[in-house]
Amino acid sequence: MPTQKSILVTGCAGFIGANFVREFKKRYPKTEIIGIDNFSTGRRDALDKQITFYPHTKRGLVSSARTKGDPRYGVGVYEGSICDRKLLEKIFKKHRPAYVFHFAALPQVSYSVEHPAETTEVNVFGTVLLLEMARDYKVKRFIHSSSSAVYGDAKELPTKEGSKLLHPRSPYGLQKYTNEPFLKMFSDLYSLDSVALRYFNVFGPGQYGGSAYATVICNWLEGLYFRHKGKPFLESDGKQSRDFCYVKNVVDANIKAMKVKGSLRGETINIGHGKRTTLIEVRKLVERYTGKELNLERRPTRLGDVRHTHADISKAWRLLGYLPLIDFETGLRETVEWFEERRK
Ligand SMILES: NC(=O)c1ccc[n+]([C@@H]2O[C@H](COP(=O)([O-])OP(=O)(O)OC[C@H]3O[C@@H](n4cnc5c(N)ncnc54)[C@H](O)[C@@H]3O)[C@@H](O)[C@H]2O)c1
Repeated sequence: MPTQKSILVTGCAGFIGANFVREFKKRYPKTEIIGIDNFSTGRRDALDKQITFYPHTKRGLVSSARTKGDPRYGVGVYEGSICDRKLLEKIFKKHRPAYVFHFAALPQVSYSVEHPAETTEVNVFGTVLLLEMARDYKVKRFIHSSSSAVYGDAKELPTKEGSKLLHPRSPYGLQKYTNEPFLKMFSDLYSLDSVALRYFNVFGPGQYGGSAYATVICNWLEGLYFRHKGKPFLESDGKQSRDFCYVKNVVDANIKAMKVKGSLRGETINIGHGKRTTLIEVRKLVERYTGKELNLERRPTRLGDVRHTHADISKAWRLLGYLPLIDFETGLRETVEWFEERRK
């Protein structure tokens, strides 16, 4: 598993994609990993220099890293966009990936509110184009990154996938929601097997704070360890809560989704921790693990902010055998260690 020699990872230089590549390489050292990323938010330093090579660059050059290791078992990163049909054709034709792990997206909610067309192009058109390639090149399973943003302000907590009350509140949420019936349709029309994993509030090493997209955990840690980046703040009363999911659990869910026998037929599955934590509790834990006092600037509630998120993960257990491997507190401690390392 996988029996074919290659997998494709889109958004391989992003927060979740880079964590995924690292873990996958550990578990399946002999499988060729092919990545595609346009580095719009992804970072080159997220990729391990020792094994990363660039089979295709804008100048048509091959990076020297390729000649050092055995490129068949390295991580070959194509720099370019998932909206570039020619590039995708080249990649699929050459590598014939057995599985596609689709992380690439423009995931900032606020950016999608300002740029609904641009984000729809990447998040919807880019996804459908990849599905088309996966269909044409007989990919075994397409594993898609969806989001709890499809629920909007969920009325039912913990939230089940079957909830009829889906009210995405941003173009980003709507784009992620739109992808899901496409997955099902590709399964019905062309027998392309797929699954949509709806991640909840992912945090962990590799998530840089200071963006509207990062979790409050990484935003606060960024403020604590890199004071020049601005004062950390708390919106509302701190009693709002989130189902914070540690990135290693998300990575594990993706690998479990690959390994499931039989067909998943475009199922949508929540991937979270299955518990929620209030921001007041997060603050206490951050102070305990960092040994620092967290002075938070108080701000009013952000318009449209969701009060609570909480995933019902029973379907993930039933279909994938998924349970969070790492609990919230351990994940938080490992994240603090990563910030400490960065500051050195
Ligand atoms: N982080 C979370 O809390 C969370 C929650 C739910 C869902 N998700 C989803 O998980 C996936 C990964 O999220 P992340 O947190 O790692 O985000 P990220 O921004 O760190 O990673 C996204 C990657 O996609 C790349 N990318 C963007 N547009 C591209 C394009 N046109 N062509 C090729 N590459 C492109 C970026 O450069 C980046 O490396 C996304 O699909 C996101 O919507 C994330």
